Amino acid sequence: MLIVEFNVIQKARFQMTDLSSLFPPSVIITIASNEMWSTPLCTEEEQLIEGAVEKRQREFRAGRNAAHAILNQLNAPSGPILRGEKRQPTWPAGFLGSITHCRERCVVACTKKGDLLSLGLDVEPLSPLSKGIARYIDTPEETQFKLQHETLPARLFFSAKESLYKCYYPLIGRYFGFQSINLNFDLSRQRFQFTPTSACTIRFPENLIFHGRYQVDDKHLYTSCFLTQKQTGLP
Ligand SMILES: CC(C)(COP(=O)(O)OP(=O)(O)OC[C@H]1O[C@@H](n2cnc3c(N)ncnc32)[C@H](O)[C@@H]1OP(=O)(O)O)[C@@H](O)C(=O)NCCC(=O)NCCS
Repeated sequence: MLIVEFNVIQKARFQMTDLSSLFPPSVIITIASNEMWSTPLCTEEEQLIEGAVEKRQREFRAGRNAAHAILNQLNAPSGPILRGEKRQPTWPAGFLGSITHCRERCVVACTKKGDLLSLGLDVEPLSPLSKGIARYIDTPEETQFKLQHETLPARLFFSAKESLYKCYYPLIGRYFGFQSINLNFDLSRQRFQFTPTSACTIRFPENLIFHGRYQVDDKHLYTSCFLTQKQTGLP
């Protein structure tokens, strides 16, 4: 009985916005609770933010605490989630995940490796990007699309490219320029796909199927990507 009540309270706290449609049901996605931003981590994880500014320490704690809460639900082996050579979290063997944070929100998604081979997640405020940054993000085709759809969230292309990078990085281990891929959005289904431009030097794994999704609430935009070996049959 106590466990049921605890779960109900936790669910209400963590899921102010229901983000479950960003991934298939095997993925657990969580918004970090207020306490997660300040609860200290284990020694090895705390060492990664020693000397960092308070904002960085808070967002790092939020991401790691939320990730541990999910991994616990998934019965993953416990242990520190350290940092790879390009800042990617080192998930326990057999598990996948992605962490994202912006000023007031931290979201984490994790799953057991199985149908999904990688995943990426990004959250952004609904405010526009500074003009200086925006001109390095979009390709000419994307700029044209944006002009035809003026109500799109300002950071949609930026966010989708960030989550795409997080999804592919663990597989290809390389950075690819923002303008080396073209995003194609299906606005009615809140889905997206991408095609490399002729300038792209990355070979994306051809045998894997890419899925991109997005969702908007009153303050934030969320984008998600995942890779499967075969079509999932998901809507
Ligand atoms: C990695 C990057 C996407 C993270 O963006 P950010 O602005 O810091 O914002 P987010 O909060 O959304 O993401 C940070 C989290 O991403 C995760 N992350 C960082 N590098 C990663 C990588 N190489 N692969 C997977 N996940 C990564 C980490 O968990 C990190 O949080 P943590 O340090 O607290 O653990 C961004 O900093 C970056 O390096 N971009 C360059 C690559 C790029 O621009 N690609 C565009 C492709 S078209």
